[in-house]
Amino acid sequence: MAIRYFCDAFLLILVCLVLCQHCYCTVSDIQCLKKLKASVDPDNKLDWTFNNNTEGSICGFNGVECWHPNENRILSLHLGSMGLKGRFPDGLENCSSMTSLDLSSNSLSGTIPADISKRLPFITNLDLSYNSFSGEIPEALGNCTYLNVLNLQHNKLAGLIPGQLAALARLTQFDVSDNQLSGQIPSSLSKFAPSNFANQDLCGKPLSNDCTATSSSRTGVIIGSAVGGAVITLIIVAVILFIVLRKMPAKKKKEKDLEENRWAKTIKGAKGVKVSMFEKSVSKMKLNDLMKATCDFTKENIIGTGRSGTMYRASLPDGSFLAIKRLQDTQHSEGQFTSEMSTLGSVRQRNLVPLLGYCIAKKERLLVYKYMPKGSLYYNLHQQSSEKKALEWSLRLKIAIGTARGLAWLHHSCNPRILHRNISSKCILLDDDYEPKISDFGLARLMNPIDTHLSTFVNGEFGDLGYVAPEYTRTLVATPKGDVYSFGVVLLELVTGEEPTHVSNAPENFKGSLVDWITYLSNNSILQDAIDKSLIGKDNDAELLQCMKVACSCVLSSPKERPTMFEVYQLLRAVGEKYHFSAADDELTMQPQNADPGDELIVAN
Ligand SMILES: *[C@@H]1O[C@H](CO)[C@@H](O)[C@H](O)[C@H]1NC(C)=O
Ligand SMILES: *[C@@H]1O[C@H](CO)[C@@H](O)[C@H](O)[C@H]1NC(C)=O
Ligand SMILES: *[C@@H]1O[C@H](CO)[C@@H](O)[C@H](O)[C@H]1NC(C)=O
Repeated sequence: MAIRYFCDAFLLILVCLVLCQHCYCTVSDIQCLKKLKASVDPDNKLDWTFNNNTEGSICGFNGVECWHPNENRILSLHLGSMGLKGRFPDGLENCSSMTSLDLSSNSLSGTIPADISKRLPFITNLDLSYNSFSGEIPEALGNCTYLNVLNLQHNKLAGLIPGQLAALARLTQFDVSDNQLSGQIPSSLSKFAPSNFANQDLCGKPLSNDCTATSSSRTGVIIGSAVGGAVITLIIVAVILFIVLRKMPAKKKKEKDLEENRWAKTIKGAKGVKVSMFEKSVSKMKLNDLMKATCDFTKENIIGTGRSGTMYRASLPDGSFLAIKRLQDTQHSEGQFTSEMSTLGSVRQRNLVPLLGYCIAKKERLLVYKYMPKGSLYYNLHQQSSEKKALEWSLRLKIAIGTARGLAWLHHSCNPRILHRNISSKCILLDDDYEPKISDFGLARLMNPIDTHLSTFVNGEFGDLGYVAPEYTRTLVATPKGDVYSFGVVLLELVTGEEPTHVSNAPENFKGSLVDWITYLSNNSILQDAIDKSLIGKDNDAELLQCMKVACSCVLSSPKERPTMFEVYQLLRAVGEKYHFSAADDELTMQPQNADPGDELIVAN
């Protein structure tokens, strides 16, 4: 009954939202598809009809995936094996938010355009395999710096592999096999498997043929072995291979480990640098103490990796622990950094992980935090081994309320106000009593502004994609309501037990995020299906539904419709009143009149 009522109310809100939604000016993406179809689909294989310009109308097209089903903004195009013909398609520059393009197994020919990086600036996945593209691989591909996957297999590409591809630092898959490429393979690509380079005239690592070796010497070896007796040689080779193959993984692993903390070696010279501490109670430390406590930042001591950097566990001689964050990509001068640190060092609230100190060693910036023994909420919700009991509801509610309190404090009580921008279940840490502590607050400002924004949706991992408010990618503006959205996703995780990007409880062909799924269920008035089965029927159903309702209001697609963090906190506190979590809670002096602080522009100029 209560569920029914809530679903109807939610449906009403949704309908209202659709009606009041502003026009987002996404004619551009429609034009992209029109031009594409006109240029490569002479046989009309793509059944796209453009007689309906409402938002979301192109999202149902075959092969088209949108960022959001109600908005004509394309995330990816999957046009493999669609019978496309002609040259590289036109119009893609108008799909300006697209991150993935699959044109594999068609009959496309001609060159790959030399301005490809201007047409596909945010591309992370590019698959042009099994076509007939010819000419050279354009150097400009090296400017598509978000590329994770580049597949050019089975085309007619010729010439050298351009050295500019070394700029593709995020590349995890690369395949140019079965083309007519020649010359030396750039050393930056030698980490990929030899089979990905199978071309008649390529040489150098990872292939076994050296670029200087002559073919005659190779022939000599072959003849020599034949004379020596093929059978004996084969046996010897087999034995050697057996030994080498058995040893290789260990050796490779060691090399990789060395690679991973190589940065730590570069700061050894600065061992004597003092760690600046904000609290007198913490004993004086030098960089050397941090290095000892983390065994020179070895992989075994990594306890988390996120956009702002890698977190290490440091074990001190007295048996206590600290958490050390190695900050990534900070573009700030030492002076700016120090002043940011002294601001963050003075921020103290019960639901925030306290920053204890920091250390500048050459180019590296290390932050020292209090260690949280229970790890992240993400770990406790999704990665705990199955024998362990799932988090019970009262703990989840406690975590929700505490997190809301911390975030509301950052938005409304802290001076200067701090937007988090990266709220996810991974940055909510738990102390021994499961009191949640938000980490990573204040770090977004320290990072390269443009990259911080972009990396939220094109860092290739898509790990935090499920938390990014839909307006972020359109407006490039960080707002308090963006944090509210991300918090809403965390709340959905708590109530459903699902991960934000992958819903295990949904039908197999459902590809959307947790928010998409919740929207789908509520449209069909079966929202109760989303609640974590381990929580249902234990006298908490009313609270579960109330929390679901709060979560749904936080993830509304229009920022204006979402409540403020202060309101969210008040709502959740009311839900959990009977548990008395917030008895000693007088520290909170929020100013509701400050409830809607202004926006903060991420992109400078
Ligand atoms: C499509 O892209 C071109 C080139 O960037 C631009 O001039 C044009 O205005 C775009 N069209 C739309 C409808 O945005
Ligand atoms: C236009 O598309 C929308 C969304 O797909 C759909 O709801 C609507 O019925 C369509 N309108 C027409 C006239 O086909
Ligand atoms: C790649 O980017 C660099 C730096 O912005 C620019 O100078 C160069 O012309 C670009 N190359 C191509 C081929 O677009």
